Amino acid sequence: MLRRCVTEMSENYTMQDLVRVKVVSDYDQMSDVASELVIGLLKQRPQSVIGFATGGTPVGLYKRLVSAYERRDIDFSQVTTFNLDEYLGLERSNPNSYCYYMYENLFSLVNVRHENVFIPDGMSQSPERACEEYENAILHAGGIDLQILGIGSNGHIGFNEPGTAFGCSTHIVALADETVKANARFFDSDELVPRHAISMGIKSIMRARQIVHSRPKKAHAMARALPH
Ligand code: F6R
Repeated sequence: MLRRCVTEMSENYTMQDLVRVKVVSDYDQMSDVASELVIGLLKQRPQSVIGFATGGTPVGLYKRLVSAYERRDIDFSQVTTFNLDEYLGLERSNPNSYCYYMYENLFSLVNVRHENVFIPDGMSQSPERACEEYENAILHAGGIDLQILGIGSNGHIGFNEPGTAFGCSTHIVALADETVKANARFFDSDELVPRHAISMGIKSIMRARQIVHSRPKKAHAMARALPH
């Protein structure tokens, strides 16, 4: 997916302009590098729009952002946030919802304003409209300055499974069996894992001005996602 995007964008840029790869030795170093980028951006532009992800990958980053906030190094009062995705059918109060994860790992621990936090509404009566409104909200906020991404073992980004059309903006996704299995570790049983989700599309993600895409132990998935 990234390769296609880079191909489309590369008329005026070299590959090095578009994608920088930094190899680090462990998870802590990866979290340090990601947090330096986010902290640097927030210092430079306190009203930044940040795209967040859930999962194991960004937990170390979020811990570092909370510490930086507690040291008064950064302030979230003007920050707007957009999350990549949310399960369909899970209440925000459900500990497996991505909304719950974000408040637990970051939003409740810093001074971000509740009204500046955007997470797809998995309980919407009209999920299609919720997708459209979400995309409009991103545009209305001026676009995403920096998007945090992880990558699934099958290469999914957000809930965009491999093969998802590159031109998709926020949309409803049927989860691949592999993704359901990978996420089942958080649920009491496989049957409880939702089969559908709302996810920002590759088009929405690639509009971000900067993307930090990381994951240790998934070098194979990263290698396949990166342009050659
Ligand atoms: C989560 C998300 C997913 C994860 C991916 C990797 O919001 O968008 O694409 O980034 O499943 O998950 P971890 O980090 O748990 O390996």
